[in-house]
Amino acid sequence: MDKIREEKFNLLDKNNKEAELGGGQDRIDRQHKAGRKTARERITYLLDKGTFVELDKFVTHKTTDFDMDKTKFLGDGVVTGYGKIDRRLVYVFAQDFTVFGGSLSRTNADKIIKVMDMAMKMGAPVLGLNDSGGARIQEGVESLAGYADIFYRNVMSSGVIPQISAILGPCAGGAVYSPAITDFIMMVKETSYMFVTGPEVIKTVTHEEVTKEELGGAMTHNSKSGVAHLTADDDEQAMMMLRELLSFLPSNNMEDPPVKVCTDDVNRLDKTLNELVPTDPNKPYDMMDLIHSVVDQKHFFEIQPHYAQNIIVGFARMAGKPVGIVANQPAMLAGVLDIDASTKAARFVRFCDAFNIPIITLEDVPGFLPGTAQEFGGIIKHGAKLLYAFAEATVPKITLITRKAYGGAYDVMSSKHIGADVNFAYPTAEIAVMGPDGAVNIIYKGKLNEEEKAKAVKEYRDNFASPYKAAQMGYIDEIIKPEETRKKLIQALEMTQTKSKVNPAKKHGNIPL
Ligand code: HXC
Repeated sequence: MDKIREEKFNLLDKNNKEAELGGGQDRIDRQHKAGRKTARERITYLLDKGTFVELDKFVTHKTTDFDMDKTKFLGDGVVTGYGKIDRRLVYVFAQDFTVFGGSLSRTNADKIIKVMDMAMKMGAPVLGLNDSGGARIQEGVESLAGYADIFYRNVMSSGVIPQISAILGPCAGGAVYSPAITDFIMMVKETSYMFVTGPEVIKTVTHEEVTKEELGGAMTHNSKSGVAHLTADDDEQAMMMLRELLSFLPSNNMEDPPVKVCTDDVNRLDKTLNELVPTDPNKPYDMMDLIHSVVDQKHFFEIQPHYAQNIIVGFARMAGKPVGIVANQPAMLAGVLDIDASTKAARFVRFCDAFNIPIITLEDVPGFLPGTAQEFGGIIKHGAKLLYAFAEATVPKITLITRKAYGGAYDVMSSKHIGADVNFAYPTAEIAVMGPDGAVNIIYKGKLNEEEKAKAVKEYRDNFASPYKAAQMGYIDEIIKPEETRKKLIQALEMTQTKSKVNPAKKHGNIPL
């Protein structure tokens, strides 16, 4: 090779090396010491080996205020590009905390916007690996504009391509609002935080003292606020979980979700299910046992497992095809619907509907949670969200009532009347306006002694709290034995897989937010 060419090639190598060092070895060491990986290491864990193609590696910021022109880093604090997960195209951006705390500059925003725009054009998911102190303070409005440009794209991409966020460090300000618009948020325990304003600002404004962990740690957002959906023990596990999550999702809203070869017998019976629902209607049981029994290989990928545990949502495969499962959990608060459970399930139902994932609803619900806290908190509008979400969903909807389906909760939980395609019930199902005790108390208010009351409760249960009234009306298509649940659900999914339903044309609905 001639000298001139060699020099040019060496310069490229040098620049590549410099860009790959981000904010320098010291800051990389600090990142590692804090239990975190670098942006590039995270991308390596996330993508299929050797598939990452980096864009804009040599971009630098253009700020001159605060002597910023003297401090420039190639790439300017975010690594962007595309690659593959399970051989499917994805776009990725990973904020590099070693450069100005991963903060968002105008240039940095432009890099993210470029991959977001490409992802929309190509119809592929965007994964954001967030580790950022928010807007770059030295830049001011240029940085705010950058955020708004990203938020706008988040909104335009919503329901078109899956957008998934991992929070992998201390994320503040704008660095949390973009993830909030995306479909799923993953957080890493003890090393990641999300807050709009940090502990110091809170102390000044409200005089509250709170630690970073209490305010915005992984468990705060996964169990208290419901902002996040998944937790991982470390960055590597977080990346593995994102890979798995994507395996259930289509690349865009025009595709069906990816099918895997199914080695689990589609006709598999499970006799233990016949004993799962206790004969005593007040006794709890674990709905997770039913889910694990019926899905392929007993494998269920739960979303928001720590939040509103009275309802379960998550992905699984049936006969190799992804499904979304929404299930009341009688083992937690008797499976009652409250504000948190309603919003958790409503958002999940809307995600499944947007991305062509059939919804299986497993129902055992005594109704909406009574009380002033719920009423003052707006259970009416929040419960209505779930009703709205199920009603508007046009994907195949299969419902199985295992035990209680009382009152408004019967209507809400994907009933025939709001568009479910196949409605099953176990012989143990109780479909009624309310539980027999409550019904007798109201009908015979103060008129019965204990013995008469017990008789009336039994009569109500036998006559009304059974699946047969609903079956006579055609509201339940079939009463099935629990052991055959997997087979019946798969048959229903196969029957509905060519479903074509379009809601009336409109600009958009007005879900009760
Ligand atoms: C520029 C920043 C920065 C920022 C951090 N750094 N945040 N630089 N703009 N927003 C730099 C630090 O100066 C430091 O540089 C390096 O990143 C690491 O930061 P540390 O503070 O040493 O790290 P740590 O102790 O881990 O604390 C991380 C942090 C804290 C919690 C994120 O840095 C912090 O509170 N930053 C400010 C957060 C914030 O208020 N952002 C603006 C939000 S407003 P050196 O050179 O020392 O390594 C916003 C507007 C958009 O985002 C709103 C849209 C709705």
